[in-house]
Amino acid sequence: MFLECIECKTQYPDSEIIYRCPRCGGLLDVIYDYSNIDISAQNLKQPPSVWKYRALLPIKGEPVSLYEGGTPLYECGRLADEVGIRKLYVKHEGLNPSGSFKDRGMTVGVSKALELGMQTVACASTGNTSASLAIYAAKAGISAVVLLPTGKVAMGKVAQALMHGARVISIKGNFDDVFQLVQELCDQEGFYLLNSVNPFRLEGQKTIGFEIVDQLNWGVSDRVVVPVGNAGNISAIHKGFVEFQKFDIIDEIPKMTGIQAEGAAPIVDAFKRGVKDIVPEPNPETIATAIRIGDPVNAPKALRAIRNSGGMAEVVSDGEIIRAQKDLAKLEGIGVEPASASSIAGLRKLVEQGIIDGDECVVCVTTGHLLKDPEEIMRVCDKPIEVEADIRAIKKVLSERISK
Ligand code: F0G
Repeated sequence: MFLECIECKTQYPDSEIIYRCPRCGGLLDVIYDYSNIDISAQNLKQPPSVWKYRALLPIKGEPVSLYEGGTPLYECGRLADEVGIRKLYVKHEGLNPSGSFKDRGMTVGVSKALELGMQTVACASTGNTSASLAIYAAKAGISAVVLLPTGKVAMGKVAQALMHGARVISIKGNFDDVFQLVQELCDQEGFYLLNSVNPFRLEGQKTIGFEIVDQLNWGVSDRVVVPVGNAGNISAIHKGFVEFQKFDIIDEIPKMTGIQAEGAAPIVDAFKRGVKDIVPEPNPETIATAIRIGDPVNAPKALRAIRNSGGMAEVVSDGEIIRAQKDLAKLEGIGVEPASASSIAGLRKLVEQGIIDGDECVVCVTTGHLLKDPEEIMRVCDKPIEVEADIRAIKKVLSERISK
């Protein structure tokens, strides 16, 4: 196993603490000697979980685990009919230990931190990364430092980081400012950086791709739709599919389809203009605070995943996100936070535009749990109706609602 720069292809040992190529500044990939890995030696009959696929993960010893992964792949017939698609599955990552897909990356990332002898782990975050870092640092018995953009992190996520014992610092700036600062802090203080620029963290997240194949009975969907923020996850899921193709487990790679929120969509913009480099958005804004990011660090990897798989990228508005969040909740019983609903909103939009064929089989990834952002729920749903403690008052309200 070694690290390889995605731009200049220089290789580095996996024991080096680097997050980008020291020669050209490019992002790094973890590469294995695939000819030496016998995936069939793994018990592929056991239920899905991150560590089921450990032959393809970069950790040698016992991992720091809280039983992450193995999330359900729900078949969503009612929502499929509503959206106008033949077959729709939702991979609900909100059912991980801290309530988001970040746990897949952090179980690997914090395990790597221990292997490298690091005492403190750190991240900048729109919320979920910090919650996840906090739970794995707690489990590992090491310190966590998290930097958050003031006023723009959903309450549930801050609450998690606090309760699990991370040092939480709120910064007067947006995520992109905070991400610059955490990189400097890690360089100067010797903290281990666990944002998605860390290639080992993304290795954990590629297991979403492995699990989709596993749960589709070792097959694939035509397309996988993913919310995009800092752009690590879509790249990681794609890497999972590419690796399973190398092992002849699948023949084809699903079309990777990235969805960003209007107002925070530099990757969609670069994709549509057919260019390699993004133009950062200086003032990103969206109700989906998890993906309120103007300068995604993994943009080159995400554009590579989208283009190599014949996929695409689209934006959705806040209104479209809220509608999708309610549809998922009410038609399928799946509760997700706004950023997660962008995958469903994007699917609907692309079907309406005729860009996604109604005959496709699609997997949408929903990345975080509904309860992460209770304040948003209270803003977009009707308030509870308060009445006197009297059965007639209750019946009156119910009859009014029914007659409505
Ligand atoms: N969905 C949710 C719920 C997220 O929290 C994030 C990212 C994404 C989607 C986008 O994933 O960055 O890999 O493209 N949240 C990060 C955080 C930035 O700090 O929690 P991505």
